[in-house]
Amino acid sequence: MNVEEAITGRYSCRAYLDRPVEREVIRKILDTARWSPSGANTQPWQVAVVQGDTKARLIERFLAAMQTGEKPAPDYQYYPKEWVEPYKSRRFQCGMALYEALRIEREDKERRLQAWQDNYRFFGAPLALFFFIDRTMEIGAWLDMGMFIQSVMLAAREQGLESCPQASVADYPGLVRELLGIPDDRRLLCGLAMGYPDTGHPVNNYRTDRDPVEQFTRWYE
Ligand SMILES: Cc1cc2nc3c(=O)[nH]c(=O)nc-3n(C[C@H](O)[C@H](O)[C@H](O)COP(=O)(O)O)c2cc1C
Repeated sequence: MNVEEAITGRYSCRAYLDRPVEREVIRKILDTARWSPSGANTQPWQVAVVQGDTKARLIERFLAAMQTGEKPAPDYQYYPKEWVEPYKSRRFQCGMALYEALRIEREDKERRLQAWQDNYRFFGAPLALFFFIDRTMEIGAWLDMGMFIQSVMLAAREQGLESCPQASVADYPGLVRELLGIPDDRRLLCGLAMGYPDTGHPVNNYRTDRDPVEQFTRWYE
């Protein structure tokens, strides 16, 4: 797979085959991604690979948190508190396309909630990764993290795997840290569901689009 194919063919995969991923394959992906750049080569990434019983316990805890109405308490604010254009419309379109693929009507609050809850089951993926960063690291290191996580997603494709980055699972960092025994001095950035894609599932058969280069580029010559 060449780099262009790896980048343009990636999509957020939200349905997976019931097929485990061998530890050696996961290791290989991380072994590739560790060559991502980072400011002053600080390599701020810390990764938890979660499968099997631990994943099952985590899912239980997430769903219980939701059902008891536990208030999300993320370690950072991902989205703006007030949405402005063009981001507001893009976000709206993104949600609508997902619901359309799942054949969920706009008014169907119950099924929308179920679709959201699917995040906390990692969309049925056999594997979930969690990305942490030391609290002492500043905003620059978050750039490094983004590069690393994209590298993980692309390296996974080389192995026939797909993934879905998940800020949703960072809504309850306390329970993730507790269950995984991660000290409180690490921030949870996001999760990443990963596995072999169920390519026949409708949720994997729509694609988001992107603005053309002209839209976001200024040329100076
Ligand atoms: C940091 C990050 C967090 C995300 N969190 C979620 C999430 O919690 N749930 C979800 O379904 N998709 C999540 N996404 C996926 C985005 O919705 C998706 O990347 C975007 O719509 C573009 O679609 P594509 O990934 O299929 O190209 C996240 C993406 C990123 C980069």
